[in-house]
Amino acid sequence: MSDTGHLGVEHSGVVLSGVTKRYGQVTAVSDLTLSIGAGECFSFLGPSGCGKTTTLRMIAGFEDLDEGEITAGGRLISSSAKKFYLPPEKRDFGMVFQAFAVWPHLSVFENVAFPLRLRKLSRSDIEAKTREALTHTGLAGQERAFPNELSGGEKQRIALARALAVNPQVMLLDEPLSNLDPKLREEMRFEIKDLQRRFGFTIIYVTHDQAEAMALSDRIMVMDQGRVRQVGTPLDVYNSPADAFVFGFIGLSNFIPARIENGAAHAALPPGGWDGPAIGPLTRDIPAGLAPGPVTLACRPTEIDLLPADDPREAPRGVVRRKAFLGEIVDYRVALGSTEVRIQRFRRDPSFETGQAVKLLFHRLLWYPA
Ligand SMILES: Nc1ncnc2c1ncn2[C@@H]1O[C@H](COP(=O)(O)OP(=O)(O)O)[C@@H](O)[C@H]1O
Ligand SMILES: [Mg+2]
Repeated sequence: MSDTGHLGVEHSGVVLSGVTKRYGQVTAVSDLTLSIGAGECFSFLGPSGCGKTTTLRMIAGFEDLDEGEITAGGRLISSSAKKFYLPPEKRDFGMVFQAFAVWPHLSVFENVAFPLRLRKLSRSDIEAKTREALTHTGLAGQERAFPNELSGGEKQRIALARALAVNPQVMLLDEPLSNLDPKLREEMRFEIKDLQRRFGFTIIYVTHDQAEAMALSDRIMVMDQGRVRQVGTPLDVYNSPADAFVFGFIGLSNFIPARIENGAAHAALPPGGWDGPAIGPLTRDIPAGLAPGPVTLACRPTEIDLLPADDPREAPRGVVRRKAFLGEIVDYRVALGSTEVRIQRFRRDPSFETGQAVKLLFHRLLWYPA
């Protein structure tokens, strides 16, 4: 039976319990408890400085813990209480970082073979495993090239192949695609997912790019200032954000200051009045817990319809301030009282011009305390 720490149950994935990491006055990661399933693709998502890399480095074994412990595959790998830290090379995790961490003086083959040589595998084993990793990352035929002869995408493939060569149970990826151009980035996402399907490893993926996290992940942890804001599937965090921070971080968002009065929500009107028409017809959706007074309404730009000003439906009025074509999407900025609301419609929808008076029909609103 392997050591499972104080959790007391076997867990084949990666489990963090009460993990805290401080750098002087800064608490980089605060009391983080998290359970990542074996074979899962799990992302850490959040703004720069929120603690993603620190968490990943603790899992990798490059950082000790101020509090808490980490298990992987049911085995204790880090414990602050026991002062126990399995060294990184004994964790058998694959790792890929943002900077192309390849050795310029080694050939592609030797870059990938390096961790296998460290592990003192037989010559034929090294040859076979290296070739397999190169094949699976599209680098077959480039064995003898040197990194500076290759593109950024190919350099990152070397790093991926090197991580793959050790046949890891867990692959740790820290913003591995952020130095690549957007098209290549999307392509590599699919390649990483394909490799996972083929080899079945667990992925822990760090990114500040919500689209990347949504596209790749089974589940996402949204972090802010060393703390968890929400853990859920991409759909969960998109459709049911736990708070205004998560709403604002995932996808495009509008926040509209408003006020609940007589059972209806009214947008702020200049100069600070609240007597505009109700932001309906969704007033029936005012959550029971929200008291009359100021609230923040949150809405995606695609969940608002634009209507001509003479439309008979009861809806708040606005004025189109700016309009931009984004290919199939038309992006409007519409003044609603003192707030500018972003609205995205398809090009084939009715079109409105800058300066035109309109009505705004809200299809879905989320309500947060102001
Ligand atoms: N080696 C370090 N020494 C001091 N502070 C650090 C160190 N590494 C990270 N930090 C601080 O910890 C916080 C989290 O950093 P990091 O984990 O790198 O965030 P992220 O990867 O989400 O951008 C930041 O405030 C950062 O400045
Ligand atoms: Mg980072």
